[in-house]
Amino acid sequence: MNAPSSKTTSLRLYSDDALSPLPLASCFDKPAPIEVDVGCGKGRFLLARAKDRPQTNYLGIDRMLRRIRKVDRKAVRAGLTNIRLFRMEAYYAISYLIPPESISGYYILFPDPWPKAKHHRHRLFDERFIEALHRTLLPGAPVHVATDHLPYFKEIQARMRAVDGHFEEIPAWEPAEHERTDFELLFLGHKDIGRASFRKRLE
Ligand SMILES: C[S@@+](CC[C@H](N)C(=O)[O-])C[C@H]1O[C@@H](n2cnc3c(N)ncnc32)[C@H](O)[C@@H]1O
Repeated sequence: MNAPSSKTTSLRLYSDDALSPLPLASCFDKPAPIEVDVGCGKGRFLLARAKDRPQTNYLGIDRMLRRIRKVDRKAVRAGLTNIRLFRMEAYYAISYLIPPESISGYYILFPDPWPKAKHHRHRLFDERFIEALHRTLLPGAPVHVATDHLPYFKEIQARMRAVDGHFEEIPAWEPAEHERTDFELLFLGHKDIGRASFRKRLE
């Protein structure tokens, strides 16, 4: 695992063998709570959030290389020292590479809805994914979800409420104006957006 310093020209993480857990704590310049933007896309939310909260570390995960590269360039240019970027399939990263009870919050904003029934199996939110979120979150830490696809939103809510009572629903998180994601800006004002937040039960 490389551990980029913010003085380098890239903030990307590379897993040596894609099998060992990421030594997340040492991947950042300073120890701090770690929040993850799953499917960070072009990074509007991630960059705004990291800039506003220098006392929190942010990990952006996306499987699309050109998006990760773009966010990387913007983060370096902005001099943000508390961001790291990881190009990886999110289910795999969260299930196998993120250490247990290491994450202080997940943002899963506008996950691909795969609207056709025959493609639903590609959706991120299934029982195994929710188990992986639960395993990696610190007790009491939240998962924030937003989507413009209301049937998928209902499915996510039902699944999050169901899985072994792992999570409890809390008031839905609302982004500040400047934190709205690139996708959200496409829908704002003409499409309903479903938002929900859950936190890992303390047991
Ligand atoms: C609809 S876009 C939303 C991007 C961003 N969150 C936003 O709201 O602007 C979904 C993003 O998730 C990424 N993505 C979809 N499935 C993924 C997966 N299984 N693992 C990692 N990234 C994924 C896509 O590459 C894309 O950048």
